Amino acid sequence: MIIGNDVKQWQSIRRQDSVDTMLGFVPTMGALHQGHLSLVNRSLQENDKTVVSIFLNPTQFNDPKDLSGYPQTLEQDIAALETAGVDVLLLPDFEQVYPDNYRYKLIESEFSQQLCGASRPGHFDGVLTVVMKLLNIVQAHNAYFGEKDYQQYVLIKEMAEAFFLRTKIIACPTVREADGLAFSSRNARLATGERILAPFFHKTLTQDMSVDSLKAQLESYGFKVDYLEELSGRRYGAVYLGKVRLIDNVAI
Ligand code: PAJ
Repeated sequence: MIIGNDVKQWQSIRRQDSVDTMLGFVPTMGALHQGHLSLVNRSLQENDKTVVSIFLNPTQFNDPKDLSGYPQTLEQDIAALETAGVDVLLLPDFEQVYPDNYRYKLIESEFSQQLCGASRPGHFDGVLTVVMKLLNIVQAHNAYFGEKDYQQYVLIKEMAEAFFLRTKIIACPTVREADGLAFSSRNARLATGERILAPFFHKTLTQDMSVDSLKAQLESYGFKVDYLEELSGRRYGAVYLGKVRLIDNVAI
């Protein structure tokens, strides 16, 4: 596996590849788990080469404590990607990705203001800006995103359409623990009691009840509900367990 932190070096490797080498790309923020690896495996199956990026993107964190507490497990991540058979790992730093120091931003003005965007102002500006940069750097044929972050996937897919990007945006199903809890880098921050309660978030989301009753049920279990909404055939939720914020969604 080639590990590169230099964007220019990657661009020159990319130019050497034949035009018909199918390239798959999986952007991540590290602390890799089975959810990330399902995207990586899908890319490995569908492309000649797979590029993964690990970049803990500060511009998408509206809460500095969330950023400073974000788990970082670089050595294990590298080992897992190497074992999976990834061709290139990009590990750029802030200056590499933001030579403009975030003077330029990509802003969506409707869907990004709802759900997670309503409780995390500026979050999706940071996500869309960094994903646009990474897609332009990597120039892949296919890029893979998890349905775990369904709102993010929709915003990125529609951004790619709006700006005529050539990379195809592909959604991959949410990977869950045996008890239904969606894999998330933030799960590592749950205390033992919180981890026992956490799967009831997904269990509750799948129940055939009104949004108000679902909220009441979650609150009675001890979750603090940030939002729970149904939009375009999907039920989206975000809850707090202590300081940890969990998100999930199901098709309805
Ligand atoms: P991160 O949270 O590291 O997630 C990277 C990718 O893995 C995203 O597409 C996410 O939806 C997917 N993913 C996470 N948990 C998953 C699960 N349990 N099942 C399936 N897929 C899962 O999302 C980001 O990083 C960032 O916002 C990023 C797109 C990299 C931009 O900085």
